[in-house]
Amino acid sequence: MPVHEVKHPLIRHKLGLMRRSDISTKNFRELAQEVAALLTYEATQDFVLEKHTIEGWAGPVEVERLSGKKVTIVPILRAGMGMLEGVLTLIPGARVSVVGQVRNEETLEASTYLEKLVGELDQRLAMIVDPMLATGGSLISTIDLLKKAGSTEIRALVLVAAPEGIQKVQEAHPDVSIYTASIDERLNEKGYILPGLGDAGDKIFGTK
Ligand code: URA
Repeated sequence: MPVHEVKHPLIRHKLGLMRRSDISTKNFRELAQEVAALLTYEATQDFVLEKHTIEGWAGPVEVERLSGKKVTIVPILRAGMGMLEGVLTLIPGARVSVVGQVRNEETLEASTYLEKLVGELDQRLAMIVDPMLATGGSLISTIDLLKKAGSTEIRALVLVAAPEGIQKVQEAHPDVSIYTASIDERLNEKGYILPGLGDAGDKIFGTK
């Protein structure tokens, strides 16, 4: 599946603001949700519609409504919470499946510490949200557990992705499409994305 680097001018502008070292928690938080909403717009372009007739102000009128799979949004804790409201702005009825992944800072391996999934995953499109696709460990581990639980259609929405992480995810799960506001240059030796955003969780929650 392709990687979609979404080059909308509003996304590029907002991401540029997010890269400033002196950005406030408030601004980073707001921009993360706004970019998440814009990525959602792109990631839903192929949603299926059906026609039906309603009673309009001047009589019956044929309109369209969504008829495809229902959606579950899957924020990866904790930083993924920083994108959840943005996605919900556009898909307010979506169910939310929460997954907690922790990264071992030495081995950079991800392990799952929380898994609270909604039902009927086989009938839902799962949209994973996590600001940073760095080594790919958390994303691969989350896709693994979603597939085990019945998911058959999965998309990932990330603010910034490293080429190394994209490659790992594509090797492990070639059926999962990735939507990102930017494919950055590379990872540093600590697994942080360059130029990146720094620690997105810390910036969203105001820790450190
Ligand atoms: N997690 C982050 O928050 N930032 C990175 O650059 C990589 C992982």
